[in-house]
Amino acid sequence: MIDKRQFGKMPDGQTVDSYILTNNKGMAVEILTLGAIIRSWKLACDPSVDIVLGFDSVAEYLSDQSYLGRTVGRYANRIENGKFTLAEKTYSVSTNLQGNCLHGGVEGFHNRIWAVTKTQDNPSPSVTLSLTSEDGDQGFPGTLKVDVTFSLDQEDRLTIEYHGLCNQDTVFNPTQHSYFNLAGHDSGSIFDQQITLAANYYTPADENAIPTGDIKSVDNTAFDLRQPTPFKQAIQQQDEAIKAANGLDHNWCVDGFTPAQEKLNWVADVTEPKSGRVLVTETTMPGAQIYTGNFIGENTLGKSNTRYAAYHGFCIESQFYPNSPNQAEFPSATLRANSPFVSRTSYQIKQKSQQ
Ligand code: BGC
Repeated sequence: MIDKRQFGKMPDGQTVDSYILTNNKGMAVEILTLGAIIRSWKLACDPSVDIVLGFDSVAEYLSDQSYLGRTVGRYANRIENGKFTLAEKTYSVSTNLQGNCLHGGVEGFHNRIWAVTKTQDNPSPSVTLSLTSEDGDQGFPGTLKVDVTFSLDQEDRLTIEYHGLCNQDTVFNPTQHSYFNLAGHDSGSIFDQQITLAANYYTPADENAIPTGDIKSVDNTAFDLRQPTPFKQAIQQQDEAIKAANGLDHNWCVDGFTPAQEKLNWVADVTEPKSGRVLVTETTMPGAQIYTGNFIGENTLGKSNTRYAAYHGFCIESQFYPNSPNQAEFPSATLRANSPFVSRTSYQIKQKSQQ
């Protein structure tokens, strides 16, 4: 079932709509045309449990600095100094954090109004949102057409499929920036929730979170999360890089990735021990930024006047590794002219037996 409502208005009067996708079990995921945002994700077993952080108004989304629920682009995460070279031409893109480009620059995709170009109810409710990013948008080359399809299947899996087509060579690295809290967005910290990553390697980074270029084994490091680890333990490790980031904010290399593949690789499980709820993430992308909401401001007032703070949500951002346009050894984020881009990431809720 798909239910469309008006969510609010932009300052210039444009309407922001909300599309609620409900599967046969009663799980409901709400998508906004502002920022292609996932605003809420309510469980069938208990609709009072909403597992993503979000806001109740357009104004709050427009002043949010934490990218709650956003579709991020053109380039998620960082491009060092906002500079890269394609076909011997150097491009300077919008810089918005420590002189680097973060999440597509000052006016990335996250605050755009996306057009709904398709809805479909069977076999699973789905909605496709589209936008055109003009040549030179935030400094990026080429006119890029982007479609993002959210579909919620009967196995409680939300699959997000990204399509891109550009008339010039460009770089493209879209992601989803939902902050999950499996005990509910209003339940406080994620410390007790346990993360398991299918990642034998990660990309060490400097103090501004720009990868050094190394691809390092997680063996005997604080980045070995291959066994279930409570977020509290992972965040509070005596590791300089984790301390410098105030928690997890790093890119892991997804085991099993091969370029040009279509296969989803399992990348992460997060388990909430009290309810036995598990979020399973799979992706066709080479990397995943695990971010524990280290910088969510203390004064962030979210849905239903809930006060959010650091570590109240975690993000699993499928991606090309940060700063790939400047690292020839990393899987390439270059999108060639007139060659279609497609990637998929899925988030599925499963239930372990109660503990
Ligand atoms: C980045 C963080 C940043 C957060 C919110 C994450 O993807 O890696 O450094 O603070 O997004 O913008």
